[in-house]
Amino acid sequence: LMKAPEKRAAALRAALERHNRLYYVEDAPEITDAEYDRLFQELCDLEREHPALRSPDSPTQRVGAPPLPEFAEVRHRVPMLSIGNAFDEEEVRAFDRRVREALGAAAVEYAAEPKFDGLAVSLIYRGGLLIQGATRGDGSTGEDITPNLRTVRSIPLKVDSSGDLLEVRGEVLMYRKEFDELNARQREAGEKEYVNPRNAAAGAVRQLDSRITAGRPLRFFAYAVAHSSAPLPPTHSATLQRLAQFGFPVCADIDTVQGAEGLLQYYERLGSRRERLPYAIDGVVYKVNRLDWQEKLGYVSRAPRFALAHKFPAEEQATEVLGVDVQVGRTGILTPVARLKPVFVGGATVTNATLHNEDELRRKDVWTGDTVVVRRAGDVIPEVVRVQKPGPRRPADRFDMPKACPVCHSPVVRMAGEAATRCTGGLFCKAQRKQTLLHYASRRAMDIEGLGEKLVDQLVEKNLVKSLADLYGLKSEALAALDRMGETSSSSVVSSIDHSRNATLSRFIFGLGIPGVGEEVAKILEKHFGKLEPFMAADWKAISAEKESIRKENVRRKKRGEPAFDVPLEGIGPEIMESIEKFLHEIHNKDVIQRLDKLIRFEISAPGRRVSDVKTFVLTGTLAGMSRDEAKAAIEAKGHKVASAVSKRTSFVVAGEDAGSKLEKARALGVRIVGEHEFLDVLKTL
Ligand code: IVH
Repeated sequence: LMKAPEKRAAALRAALERHNRLYYVEDAPEITDAEYDRLFQELCDLEREHPALRSPDSPTQRVGAPPLPEFAEVRHRVPMLSIGNAFDEEEVRAFDRRVREALGAAAVEYAAEPKFDGLAVSLIYRGGLLIQGATRGDGSTGEDITPNLRTVRSIPLKVDSSGDLLEVRGEVLMYRKEFDELNARQREAGEKEYVNPRNAAAGAVRQLDSRITAGRPLRFFAYAVAHSSAPLPPTHSATLQRLAQFGFPVCADIDTVQGAEGLLQYYERLGSRRERLPYAIDGVVYKVNRLDWQEKLGYVSRAPRFALAHKFPAEEQATEVLGVDVQVGRTGILTPVARLKPVFVGGATVTNATLHNEDELRRKDVWTGDTVVVRRAGDVIPEVVRVQKPGPRRPADRFDMPKACPVCHSPVVRMAGEAATRCTGGLFCKAQRKQTLLHYASRRAMDIEGLGEKLVDQLVEKNLVKSLADLYGLKSEALAALDRMGETSSSSVVSSIDHSRNATLSRFIFGLGIPGVGEEVAKILEKHFGKLEPFMAADWKAISAEKESIRKENVRRKKRGEPAFDVPLEGIGPEIMESIEKFLHEIHNKDVIQRLDKLIRFEISAPGRRVSDVKTFVLTGTLAGMSRDEAKAAIEAKGHKVASAVSKRTSFVVAGEDAGSKLEKARALGVRIVGEHEFLDVLKTL
């Protein structure tokens, strides 16, 4: 039987969740904010008096938790992909044509939705309770931001789903009105204002202190189910309806439409309402409505074939050109960049805009002092579109591409048929060397913390690092002698450099900065080659020829209704293969890679596994049938971890001959202990 306080707490929780839902999900509040706050306060008081009444799904648990030292990594069970873009009607019609052809269908129904300008997140519910929230990250690995997402009041902490496991994907964003109110508060408090709702939402979501997140007006819209142990309805639109029943906010502006005409009408309709929507959007998203058809269409390298993002045209604004500079990129390409009088466009203040290359610069004929039209969309680099009104145009106001690299003074070249002007200095060019190092050290590549722009500038200027391999010879005394580098930060950089020696092949390949080889391509390469050596020794011409012949054979097989062969390195086209070949052919590159190969300890990329599913093993004693390294490799190959010390968080202690104190500790802590045979059995089931 429930006691009075228990009853009252349950009633308050139910009322608060209901009002939460009316306010955030159904957009139809029944009580004032003050009335809500009163109920909330009463529940807080009750839970304080009776701590036994606290529960993780209580609305009072949305106030944030003490700060985290850092975010844990989360491997997505189903990758979080991006969607292909379309900018005009023709591309939309082509999408519908491709879909119909691939399905052999005469007409296709689509779900059409706003393309929210926020951040993609994944929410995992177990037994109906929110147990994990994560960012998209690189698509395969994101960050665990559970405490932050628990503060977002439109995200249900508990759902009435029957299934054991449910993973919902959606977008976190800020309503424009609530963003304006937030900025007004910032202004009054003398704090800095946010540039746009997207940046403000991104900042709030990545707070280590979730109590700060709790004070930010974040919203959520669900737009897909990534995994469900309970069966789903047969269409995307019915799935979203189901999510709405579970209590997830689903956008009211979604629709189902027929064929390309239906898609284009939806685009027009939503476009005309864009400014009146409470949230920012940068286009619309189309998805084939039938889920079995989505599955049939599948994926190409990094995007689903069943979905398309139809973008709105980017916003444009006029401003004045203060001058034209040249930037030298990682691969030596010289990019002319217009320095601008600051202008607010596409949701941010822009002070630089690219002119792309020499041809574009001449075609647009941009001079210093001209008034130009600048375009910016979302995260895309702002560009100069055209001259709106020429300035006074004295001879000195004209800009020509330099004949020598502005950084290393090596001659520049433009190859026949290429738009790019390149510095010939290679890694002798300090600009290229800096960009190469920064890319290698970046989070998605070798993730060397502390190796930022200021430090890289000095390392290159002082010639302490001439190639990537030199990084590993750096001594902390040498670093400590540099500007802004104390003893602590020097040794921490040296240790993160050392730490980066444990890397997966795909991170390493991505980090090399081969033109055209992004993260996805690097992952495909790792999967195909497995090790560095065969990758270095690959005969790219032969692979190209093999791919071509398999593709041709598949066309024949398709006509005969036979199953297709797998194409090797699917998703990597001839241009990228040519670029890899050229890069690896370069003596200097080959030399550096060989030096790095001796320094890096390559780890096997683990299969997709969520952090909460990763088991921690501790090995102790001598195993009879395998070495410690072999046992470790077997554990890591399945995406689990090996730790050196036993703690409460250890999942298994593997005890061999002569196991010592670790075994005792495991017994004391009640950690499961397995022998060699049982270890192998257990591993099979994980
Ligand atoms: S569906 C398999 N629906 O767009 C497709 N994405 O380019 C998975 N986005 O990172 C995504 N609104 O953050 C989908 N209604 C919508 C969306 C949407 C915005 C974002 C999302 C994702 C990106 C994909």
